[in-house]
Amino acid sequence: MIQRSQLDLRKFVAPEFICGHGALRLAGRYARNFGMRHVLLVTDPGVRAAGWAEAVADSLTEAGVSFTVFDAVSSNPRSRQVMAGKEAYLAEECNGIVTVGGGSPMDCAKGIGIASSNMRDILAFEGVDRVPVPAPPLICIPTTAGSSADVSQFAIITDEERKRKIAIVSKTLVPDISLLDPEPLTTMPRELTVDTGMDTLSHAIEAYVSNASSPMTDVHALEAIRLITSALPAAIEEPDDLDLRFSTLLASLHAGLAFSNASLGAVHAMAHSLGGAYDLVHGRCNALLLEHVMAANYEAASDRYERIGAIVGRGESTPAEKVAAFRRALGVTETLAEAGVREDAIPALAAAAYNDPCMVTNPRSPACDEIERIYMHAF
Ligand SMILES: [Fe+2]
Repeated sequence: MIQRSQLDLRKFVAPEFICGHGALRLAGRYARNFGMRHVLLVTDPGVRAAGWAEAVADSLTEAGVSFTVFDAVSSNPRSRQVMAGKEAYLAEECNGIVTVGGGSPMDCAKGIGIASSNMRDILAFEGVDRVPVPAPPLICIPTTAGSSADVSQFAIITDEERKRKIAIVSKTLVPDISLLDPEPLTTMPRELTVDTGMDTLSHAIEAYVSNASSPMTDVHALEAIRLITSALPAAIEEPDDLDLRFSTLLASLHAGLAFSNASLGAVHAMAHSLGGAYDLVHGRCNALLLEHVMAANYEAASDRYERIGAIVGRGESTPAEKVAAFRRALGVTETLAEAGVREDAIPALAAAAYNDPCMVTNPRSPACDEIERIYMHAF
């Protein structure tokens, strides 16, 4: 069992945010309020094609704020992309950043902000509280309901040379404001809705069992689990339903508030390692690992896992089995082998996961060979 007291010292950091239909169109007003004259608008080609970057650009123009678009961002954003964004930010003499998109453009935008203000390579900030100079003002507009980069103090960047993801954790990465609008979610394809939803569920579960959890994070984690498990299956069937999309966005918000403050665990440590080595979709990695980590962790936080299980599903099965059934019902049925992971890569994957900062708050500390066995269960 986790030995902790409700009296343990804990802090809680959250950005200002506005939720509701039409929030996206407030981008220009807030950019002006923050004194932005020329903005770097960070997005990606998919979000541009769906029209959301243009909607934000129109809002900026209406408010009299000029901008330069930077959309050279891939999924699992690379350190080189962050540094190219920093060059664009400085060359265009920007004094603020607005980002519209999923976790990748948002994390890239956060990276561009601190790389610009500190004039250093993004990889220099790996770890916790290693950003000396605050970033320029940042407005986040998420178009997925999963990464929670719009509320968290995290940015995950891929180090291409070492083929691994680095985690940057700093209060300077908390946006100045996030505009949470359900409408952009309606253009997400089914797979992205599923994968980002499973990321939300993983954030909430890992934050709830984290050994840095607190009464404040527990409330948000449990509400996120309730919202995402009830709204996600319906949102997939009715992708244009704004109420359902908003419920998934709220779930992501609650999960983000929980994990930004309680941190994560072995699921994310192992998913970061997989995503760095194989460039796989982050939410899909979590979906394939979550139930196996829950089973391995169960004895260390059984009361908490039972509470999670009671929210996820009815019946006598274990919490891990209930999460597995939820995943299968969403159509996520592949194995790591089918996702292209090679069995002989497991020792290196486990070693990277062992050293990931998310492992520190897992309710138990698995040895490398145990992490290898968890990967094997997902094969
Ligand atoms: Fe995540």
